[in-house]
Amino acid sequence: MPAILVVGAQWGDEGKGRVIDGLAPQAHVVARYNGGDNAGHTVVAEGHTLRLHLVPSAVLHPHTICLIGGGVVVNPERLVAELDELAALGVDVEPGRIKLAANAHIILPTHRALDGARERARGRGALGTTRRGIGPTYADKAARVGLRAGAMADPEGFAEGVAELTKAHTRLLTKQFGMEPVSVKETAAAYYAYAQRLKDHLVDGSALVAETLAEGHTLLCEGAQGTLLDLDHGTYPFVTSSSAVAGGALTGLGFGPREVARVIGVAKAYTTRVGAGPFPTELADETGDRIRETGQEYGTTTGRPRRCGWLDLPILRYAVQVNGLTDLALTKLDVLTGIHPLRVAVAYERGGRRIERFPIAFGAEDLLAWRPVYEELPGWAEEIGGARRWEDLPPAAQEYVTFVEEAIGVPITLVGVGPDREQTIWRR
Ligand code: IMP
Repeated sequence: MPAILVVGAQWGDEGKGRVIDGLAPQAHVVARYNGGDNAGHTVVAEGHTLRLHLVPSAVLHPHTICLIGGGVVVNPERLVAELDELAALGVDVEPGRIKLAANAHIILPTHRALDGARERARGRGALGTTRRGIGPTYADKAARVGLRAGAMADPEGFAEGVAELTKAHTRLLTKQFGMEPVSVKETAAAYYAYAQRLKDHLVDGSALVAETLAEGHTLLCEGAQGTLLDLDHGTYPFVTSSSAVAGGALTGLGFGPREVARVIGVAKAYTTRVGAGPFPTELADETGDRIRETGQEYGTTTGRPRRCGWLDLPILRYAVQVNGLTDLALTKLDVLTGIHPLRVAVAYERGGRRIERFPIAFGAEDLLAWRPVYEELPGWAEEIGGARRWEDLPPAAQEYVTFVEEAIGVPITLVGVGPDREQTIWRR
């Protein structure tokens, strides 16, 4: 059996966790392939609400093996805390079940400090990062000076590596950014303890994936963030530092494209974005506020209010193109209830020239010169949270979904109508 990829089609927070949750029963291994604890998903278990940032959201499906893949950057303090929280709820987090790929990279406290320092130095041009050290850790990886998780197999050697890199970062932090020095000794000691705790979870991630596929099991690949936050294909420089697109699953986990049977894009029925950068269909008005409140659009990781706006079809077409989507999951349709008329961006326009594609190839600056072209669709007033079948949706809601489907050229196979697991319409 094959690999199924779940990727964000917008700027993240599309509700990938609920799609993973729905597909987990048929999966043997569920693997995160990119990002770090900048991502976040809320898991409700045993009456407790957990915010997970690293452990794949399928962890509550006891038959699954959860892999944190090589494309991920890991803050070990955060990972240990998540394992503890899950264990306290009675979830199996033993090394036989929760695996960490040896080629994942390690986030240090100084990576976080550098993230903050660089953001402050950018002043008004700040990117609005989550300040979790994501960018600096991937930068060290690309510069080939990073620390990999596999080094934790030898906690003493790992602690020495941590001390070395912390010293190098500290020179930068004190000289270039005028910050206080970080205690190298304390950091090394803390990381020695994390290594002791995590070393049995280490695995050859690519080999695990290969075995899973060879044995005929399903591999479910969980992307973090979304297409427009992808380092290469997003709204650069207002992006994250990893490969959030479908290709990132292949490099992040170490398997080939022939294994991929399905690529599911996840999009909200509207658009949101956290952090800075262009957002052509943003609503800086009451409708935007209404969507934020109804949809509870506040960041899982930072609590920041998310910017809200109309659905942008050129963005979704772009996501189909960049990821090779086979189908789309459209979440949070219920949030649009009561808004009439609804507007949807169908194209872009600049100096009288109209295009159907999302004009991002020349960067964020160039995108600002284009204006979205809208079409209006009728809204609906009926509550739809109880809908479980397509036929339960009011005609205007059905029309909205089919309009999107026809415009992007791939089927919408899931419609989310509320936060609960059951509030899902599976089509086809
Ligand atoms: P970083 O990933 O912390 O470097 O932040 C870079 C950009 O990505 C910022 O605009 C963040 O708000 C955004 N970002 C990072 N992770 C997420 C996420 O999980 N959801 C939404 N936005 C994110």
